[in-house]
Amino acid sequence: MATVEHSSKVVLGGRRGGPDVATLRQDRWWVQPVVTVSILTSFIIYSTWAAFQNKNYYVGASAHRDLISPFYSPCLANSCEPGASHGLILHFWTISPALLILLFPLGFRMTCYYYRRSYYRAFWWSPPACAVADGHKEYSGETRFPLIIQNAHRYFFYFGLVLNVILTYDAILAFNQPGIGLGVTVGTLVLVVNAALLWLYSLSCHACRHIVGGQVKSFKKHPVRYAFWTVVSKLNPKHMNLAWTSLIFVALTDVYVRLVASGALTDYRLF
Ligand code: FES
Repeated sequence: MATVEHSSKVVLGGRRGGPDVATLRQDRWWVQPVVTVSILTSFIIYSTWAAFQNKNYYVGASAHRDLISPFYSPCLANSCEPGASHGLILHFWTISPALLILLFPLGFRMTCYYYRRSYYRAFWWSPPACAVADGHKEYSGETRFPLIIQNAHRYFFYFGLVLNVILTYDAILAFNQPGIGLGVTVGTLVLVVNAALLWLYSLSCHACRHIVGGQVKSFKKHPVRYAFWTVVSKLNPKHMNLAWTSLIFVALTDVYVRLVASGALTDYRLF
């Protein structure tokens, strides 16, 4: 039987449906960009507000607790509340300690491959969704400032690991209740879950997977790397979910510590 071949001309920069039709999609493709803009904008507004507050980020010995907000840890500024610092103080920094460290988690998130996809679509319409026309006529990629900074993701990943270690240490300290002894409060659980989610987000990172298993010709000769790569590869498909969950939870952790520190909420002791 003779086969009929169909071919259509590919036009670079062209639009399906013609030059005046942005998309032929009939579904609600715009929901995802709207949700992304809403969550990211809310997070940016809240975290900026919280970073400039410079108060209510630590619940200390006077309340028999050792809880610090992840936005303010490590607390390195001269203005750190008593007990909030781990010992290292940069005396020249006298404004909010959060402003000293937020660049690193922010840089890690901003350069994340998953977030790039989300905010390129949601904020820049580049393109807003599959089979929807791009909002721009030109695309220069990540070859010049500011987007060339995206190539530094791997280095932000390393900084992120250091922060994860510090936040894990904070979560361990949260088991200590000065004047009472060891125990678990709601705040302890909040800090533990926050640290765990940040580890899962970092370990599911695409750069992490490449660092662990990339440039290896034979896993047989690298059993330890293979073991790590196997674990990381299982987490990697969940990176999108972990990105959103950890982002929302880190803000909720700050909210929780802030409410307890301000006296608006009691941090209940579980045992
Ligand atoms: S790809 Fe998302 S954190 Fe690395």
